[in-house]
Amino acid sequence: MRAAFARAARGEATVSRPPTTGLPDLQTWFAHGLGSHTPVGVTPPAAGDVIVLPGSQSGLGSVFRSLVGAGRPLLIESPTYWGATRAAARAGVEAVPIPSGADGPDPDELDRAFERTGARVLYAQPNFANPTGARWSTDLGDRVLETVRRHGAFLVEDDWAHDLGIDAEPTPLAARDDGGHVVYLRSLTKSVSPSVRVAGMVVRGPARERVLADVQAEAMYVSGVLQEVALDVVTQPAWRTHLRGLRQQLAARRDLLVEALREHAPTAYLDAVPQGGLNLWLRLPDATDLSGVVRECEEAGVLVAPGGEWFPAEPTGPHLRLNYAGPRPGAFPEGARVLGRALAHG
Ligand SMILES: Cc1ncc(COP(=O)(O)O)c(C=O)c1O
Repeated sequence: MRAAFARAARGEATVSRPPTTGLPDLQTWFAHGLGSHTPVGVTPPAAGDVIVLPGSQSGLGSVFRSLVGAGRPLLIESPTYWGATRAAARAGVEAVPIPSGADGPDPDELDRAFERTGARVLYAQPNFANPTGARWSTDLGDRVLETVRRHGAFLVEDDWAHDLGIDAEPTPLAARDDGGHVVYLRSLTKSVSPSVRVAGMVVRGPARERVLADVQAEAMYVSGVLQEVALDVVTQPAWRTHLRGLRQQLAARRDLLVEALREHAPTAYLDAVPQGGLNLWLRLPDATDLSGVVRECEEAGVLVAPGGEWFPAEPTGPHLRLNYAGPRPGAFPEGARVLGRALAHG
């Protein structure tokens, strides 16, 4: 990262303005990233379909404002990424929760929700969802795409964990759509650096101009220096090595935390071990005093996230989200012991 910043600092990017939609080479890199998953018979995205964003969070706001609009319904998985719920609230759209879990949403229920609400947009994370870790099957992906197309709607696919696969490769649904029904967001925050606020959006067809108009009004363009740094890092041979190392680290940390919880906090129930991403999503016994458990853990130096924030409406029960990407995996067994004790009290 530091070498990439030093190289960028010596170049033109420090004193010039990049194109609004992003540096052409970075647009090409994002387009190829998605195009590499495109099946035969589907037209892969072009560099010109990409808009470089200052993080995908701002892209969510732009898409919700430009494709849903204030007062209109947005179908959204529940639970889902809290930042998406907040972006929806700020855009003034009406979030309509679609129950989702370790296997993703029920496509029949989704179909009925489109029918009932007249919604034209679904926000979802088909790969390693935050918080559930869900990865949709190919069949579910096909059925959701088919439903979205039938209703003349858009799927906003948030591929936040594209570089965080552990036992499985992410398979973006957007790669199977060349009809402009999927708006695809890919963040580099977690895999490159949180200091490099760069993400890519692939948006094709008539929606593109609407989304671009909002992106321009919101942020105008992304710092060329940050784009140069991102491009430099992801095109180095060391990038592949880094991703392999990351995968091994995540696998080891995830397994360590899963084992520690099984041993020390057996009442915390894990529906499925995630095949990628950074989090475990635990269901707790119904009568759990969630805020008491969170407080007791915190007092013992263990930070756990209460699950309520990830529900766009009423939570279906007490949950915790545990992150296994932190710097001290050696402390996981002790952390699990603290959680187990707190659950026994709460
Ligand atoms: C599911 C999901 N989408 C989007 C984001 C925002 O990412 P970015 O850093 O690119 O704004 C996050 C960040 O945690 C996330 O978890």
